[in-house]
Amino acid sequence: MDCNRFVEEQIAQIKQIVGDAKAINALSGGVDSSLVTVIGHRALGHQLRTVFIDNALMREGEPQRVVEVFALLGITVELVDSRKEFLSALAHLTDPEEKRQAITDTFYSKVFGRLVKEFGAKFLLHGTILTDIEETVAGIKRQHNILAQLGIDPQAAYGYSVIEPLKTLRKDGVREVCKFLELPAEISQRIPFPGPALATRIVGEVTPQRLETVRTATSIVEDELADSGAFQYLAVLLNDYATGIRRNRREFGQIIVVRCIESIDARTATVTELPWDKLNRISQRITQIDGVNRCLYDLTPKPPATVEYV
Ligand code: XMP
Repeated sequence: MDCNRFVEEQIAQIKQIVGDAKAINALSGGVDSSLVTVIGHRALGHQLRTVFIDNALMREGEPQRVVEVFALLGITVELVDSRKEFLSALAHLTDPEEKRQAITDTFYSKVFGRLVKEFGAKFLLHGTILTDIEETVAGIKRQHNILAQLGIDPQAAYGYSVIEPLKTLRKDGVREVCKFLELPAEISQRIPFPGPALATRIVGEVTPQRLETVRTATSIVEDELADSGAFQYLAVLLNDYATGIRRNRREFGQIIVVRCIESIDARTATVTELPWDKLNRISQRITQIDGVNRCLYDLTPKPPATVEYV
């Protein structure tokens, strides 16, 4: 791919579409929304407002770290605290699609709708990539950032138009452009993390306490596997319980699944053959989390499984 040409074309197109209007984009810190943020700021400067929406579903310290990394690049990111809104929209929901829908609705209609109005933005810059579109159209999964392909007219539904500068790229292409732009490895090499965040890794209801459990497990898995070179690694909280023993007492505890995969573009994936020692260490650390007495390693490739559990 000719990265220089790609970037120049996208900058020109964004400038042409937006003109002297205002645009907004939500940065999650993931490689896709990070690249959109950088290209968007090159195209629009102060006409673009970038927000990080804290939806209560992020990893440990993530909101603050993302703001810091972009400050070093000279880009101001506003942290918007919407934790309560997302948690109340998710309360009592257990169906995967209903959970995704609740997050989408809260994001686009409530939180974003309000920010767009406040700023007077006419355009929303989005980090949709080709794989998101293909999987949504194929009915595999309703990706959180897909609208037009589902027949939703964002202008009519939410009052703004969407610009998707990355929609011809897959994950490997996005990383290539990030490297070309010399973005820090923390951005270009960042493992994929889904828009609906930790909600995709909690089977059953998303509650503050269950989020805390999966967040702690995620920190352990990310710490242990940071040098694995794998495409993606994650922790999932199941909705089942199993008998175990703690401090010589019977305990009906929670179950964490560790997933670690190799992939090029997340359309298909194989399971990483992690060393036994590593798996053992992860299991020991995970079962020290309050209320968790089992740790499983997922041996399923994609397909038939997907990467995330929700
Ligand atoms: P699945 O679970 O669909 O995941 O096999 C494929 C890749 O996409 C990520 N993923 C998402 N990314 N919004 C995103 O931006 C989403 O709604 C979403 N769902 C899954 C997932 O982490 C994996 O890398």
